Amino acid sequence: MIFPVEKLINAAVAARERAYAPYSNFRVGAAILTKEGRYYTGCNVENVSYGLTCCAERVALFKAVSNGERDFEAIAVTAGTEDYCAPCGACRQALAEFGAKIKVYMVNRAGDYRMRTVAELLPEAFSQETLNSEADGHNDHKTITKLIEPVNR
Ligand code: THU
Repeated sequence: MIFPVEKLINAAVAARERAYAPYSNFRVGAAILTKEGRYYTGCNVENVSYGLTCCAERVALFKAVSNGERDFEAIAVTAGTEDYCAPCGACRQALAEFGAKIKVYMVNRAGDYRMRTVAELLPEAFSQETLNSEADGHNDHKTITKLIEPVNR
């Protein structure tokens, strides 16, 4: 699918303006594009109980999903920083739920970007395949009888 990357990036930049980040002062904006061409935006929403904070990417994703969307083409994320803003691990897993092929545009202050797919950002992800592979309830470990040598990669 061909789509205007600048439009996606500009939507993320605009969403960043609405970030609620009084604790970190680190403001993030995201915009996700559906395969049918609809945009949903998100910003980080922090909480005094820090752990309840939700990242911009998941806000955008959950807004989209709660509007009935399932098929995504791309997401852009920006924090207005010199470096490209990479999504956290939790957001990578949340995006992976909807497709390893989703393109993630990590944007910096200058508006330049680096693009990686979700699969590239989250290799060997925990997947529905794994979840379903022992769905019969007999998923106990076998007793390990011999020491397995660590594999050097
Ligand atoms: N944050 C995001 O919104 N997205 C990211 O990709 C990284 C982190 C937010 C969470 C928190 O509000 C602030 O940035 C600092 O971690």
